[in-house]
Amino acid sequence: MGFVVAIDGPAAAGKGTISRAVADHFGFQHLDTGLLYRAVGARVQAGEDPIAAARTLTPNDLERPDLRTPEIAAAASRVATDPALREALVAFQRSFCALPQGAVLDGRDICTVICPDAEVKFYVTAAPEVRAERRFAELSGKGMAVTQAQVLEDVLARDARDMCRADAPLVAAPDATILDTSDMSIAEAVASAIAVVDKVR
Ligand code: C5P
Repeated sequence: MGFVVAIDGPAAAGKGTISRAVADHFGFQHLDTGLLYRAVGARVQAGEDPIAAARTLTPNDLERPDLRTPEIAAAASRVATDPALREALVAFQRSFCALPQGAVLDGRDICTVICPDAEVKFYVTAAPEVRAERRFAELSGKGMAVTQAQVLEDVLARDARDMCRADAPLVAAPDATILDTSDMSIAEAVASAIAVVDKVR
């Protein structure tokens, strides 16, 4: 088993940025597990069966340019409520836990289900309004026609679905370090995550 940093949290809390920065700093591999659910959601929207889609995901699926749209985020969180679909994605995610160079995985159930023995666990969160503001800036920066109110509504609907589902709901693991990034700059959030990992490593 390699050294594993597991990161969970709601949409647009800063998980992705922190994960990539921690992975870069320590030379770990990074897996954004949300991309797997987004890729399945996209294929289901196109009429495919979710399990068949999960079993045949290719690197190309994970690089589709439309995966970051609000429509696909919503489709991802709908397919993510299916226990059989979640199960079909477990082995691929766990293969990262065995990488000798170490790995950072981020998602919703990494600390609780996928990597319960991770050396370091984080729950990254921020106030919903702050998360909506960040996601709005990201989407409108890419030229998408969205309003801040619509983004807030989408983020809240997705949080509710992710936190209330029966299988692998989003919850802070009892042994996770909570990182509330509401009042932090990216640099501060990254520095505090790296400091926590450094103590254990
Ligand atoms: O992290 P991201 O916003 O890309 O995830 C998209 C959706 O995929 C989430 O809203 C959630 O429903 C689902 N997901 C999940 N478990 C994970 C990662 C993502 O259920 N480990």
